[in-house]
Amino acid sequence: MNKSPDNHIRPPNLVFIDTSRPAVDETREVQASLGDQRPSLSPKFFYDSRGSELFEAITELPEYYLTRAEAQIFEQQLEDIITTLGPVDVVIEPGGGSCSKVRVLLNPMQPRAFVAIDIAGDFLQQAASEVARDWPELEVTAIAADFTRSWDFTDALPAGRRLVFYPGSTLGNFDPEAQASFLGQLASVAGSDGGILLGVDLHKDSSVLHAAYNDASGLTAAFNRNMLNVVNARTGADFRPDEWQHEARYNPTRRRIEMDLIASTRQAVTVGGREFIFESGDAIRTEHSCKFTLDDLQQLAASAQMALSHHWLDSRGLFCLALLEPA
Ligand code: AVJ
Repeated sequence: MNKSPDNHIRPPNLVFIDTSRPAVDETREVQASLGDQRPSLSPKFFYDSRGSELFEAITELPEYYLTRAEAQIFEQQLEDIITTLGPVDVVIEPGGGSCSKVRVLLNPMQPRAFVAIDIAGDFLQQAASEVARDWPELEVTAIAADFTRSWDFTDALPAGRRLVFYPGSTLGNFDPEAQASFLGQLASVAGSDGGILLGVDLHKDSSVLHAAYNDASGLTAAFNRNMLNVVNARTGADFRPDEWQHEARYNPTRRRIEMDLIASTRQAVTVGGREFIFESGDAIRTEHSCKFTLDDLQQLAASAQMALSHHWLDSRGLFCLALLEPA
């Protein structure tokens, strides 16, 4: 097979590595998380193609400032960021999906190699092919892998000074213990002379956060409800999405958005032959989106034997790009 999914010849500077193992049993996974004291569904179920489209549309909403604020940091402070990072040989982006954010870094940074890792292998291969075509001198490696579970492909990564690029505040979806252990993993991939460039959303006034996750046009509600379609498709469950209401609230103590689906009627849902009864008003937790203070970031870095060595904010101080380097 020397064809990428768009039927063009695979660019010579692209290597594709497929490490995806037999899929986890998602039916059992959903049964277990719905059977918990506090029922939940993993945010990974947001992202089928419709969910990815809805998320793209969310990033353009007036209320959803995160993506624009992060892009503004790169636009307005790129020179300083590049100078501060120093020479980088290898850029590694877990969850890069469309590989769109790394593009602004490649020309000024001039790395020798770029590694994109994502669970969605076909989509990744397509995006990585485009990067490889646009930068013919760049050694591009695309790895289909669930990097939240295992990094046993680390030996396949190119040598040299490494920068792990993890933008988009995706770290905020993990709970605090998982954030620390995931950062520890990224730190070991970065190595003793490398770094992690991390984009995180900041703690702020609840009303700004509330608006960002309860937009007037209802896109976030549609995104939240779409999860039930995804779960139905992947596990054969029989959720009726229009009988669930979107709810997102900021918990200022735990500094996180807590997003739920609330049953609007009493209902039974069957997943893999097992029945779950929901009373009207019962909640399924679908997402935590953690917000950070600079103190939180410093502590988190320390828990991964790293230090917060530099950070950049957008002009309104909403979002933070942080450079973590070995302590
Ligand atoms: C992609 C996880 C960063 O938490 O803001 C957007 C997902 N959820 N609106 C976020 C999301 C609701 C987003 N992340």
